[in-house]
Amino acid sequence: MIQTIDLTRRFEDLVAVDRLNLNIDEGEIFGLLGPNGAGKTTTVLMLSTVIKPSDGTAIVGEYDVGKNPNDVRKLIGICFQEPKLMWVSTPWDVLNWHAKVCGLSTQERKRIVRQVLEDVNMWDDRKKKVHGLSGGMKKRVEVAKILIQRPKIAFIDEPTAQIDVVGKHKIWNMIRELREEGSTIILATNELYEADRLSDRVGIMHKGKMLVCDTPKTLKDSIPGGDIIEIELEKEANQKVLEELKDFREVADLALLKPNKLKVYLNKVEEIIPQIMELFLKRGAPMRSIRMSEPSLDDVFVHYTGLTIEEAQKKGPSR
Ligand SMILES: Nc1ncnc2c1ncn2[C@@H]1O[C@H](COP(=O)(O)OP(=O)(O)OP(=O)(O)O)[C@@H](O)[C@H]1O
Ligand SMILES: [Mg+2]
Repeated sequence: MIQTIDLTRRFEDLVAVDRLNLNIDEGEIFGLLGPNGAGKTTTVLMLSTVIKPSDGTAIVGEYDVGKNPNDVRKLIGICFQEPKLMWVSTPWDVLNWHAKVCGLSTQERKRIVRQVLEDVNMWDDRKKKVHGLSGGMKKRVEVAKILIQRPKIAFIDEPTAQIDVVGKHKIWNMIRELREEGSTIILATNELYEADRLSDRVGIMHKGKMLVCDTPKTLKDSIPGGDIIEIELEKEANQKVLEELKDFREVADLALLKPNKLKVYLNKVEEIIPQIMELFLKRGAPMRSIRMSEPSLDDVFVHYTGLTIEEAQKKGPSR
């Protein structure tokens, strides 16, 4: 349904999206996951013809975003990361207008706008001025536009940022329903849990590049060493003990999360844990805690970048 061919976008010296080659199938939820500044929104904006690629191109439906942007626009809907709402209007006005543009009759509009406002929990606030709405409320109205339009291809950028937990689950269900009806969904998010729960496939982006792309399960299963332990030490880990840890045949990889906290990717965890504990004791680096965990998409990110998404986020989008 979507194919990108060396899709690239530069902003002066910065390469925000760097030769992206991607195929998205009809009817899938494709999660674009990455830290702040990874290039997710820039990708979404190019695919939805809001901005032009600097190089390369993309085919959306059967149309080229550069050559036939008007045809692309007929197929798509977009939920912007930053809601684009007229400040003096109300949620009801915004959605009624949107429904009108989407070609719904007066009767349908009345019914559907009410239904969607109720679904996103904004019915009671429908007459408030947009400028008086909270961030999460504005986002709900922005998401509601897609739910009214129900486009063949939906670009949804950070749908649940600023939205409370109950609202998140509701929105996830509504996105799934949209997919059940046959829409193809591109979901940009920096929330690991959201990408994992919702996506059929996830593409992990970092610094404008696509690091890896597959089903969440395959990505998690592909990390070397099927087991993970997190070790917190009483004091900073010294280099020697880390080197010795790496020498264990069962240890596939390790990442230092903090000076005194490390994550170890390994096999046969139950057999090797006593030896690992002994090693730390012998080397005068007592443990404060040790915890086993299942691999997450964050571990996939760590595997490819050496950083957790949170750390990459803190470091900022510098290239
Ligand atoms: N209009 C612009 N002018 C200059 N630089 C831009 C512009 N839009 C984006 N960038 C830069 O491109 C890079 C990618 O930004 P983008 O918004 O695509 O990231 P993102 O993955 O969506 O991040 P976030 O999770 O924060 O939404 C960033 O370094 C950003 O500063
Ligand atoms: Mg973004």
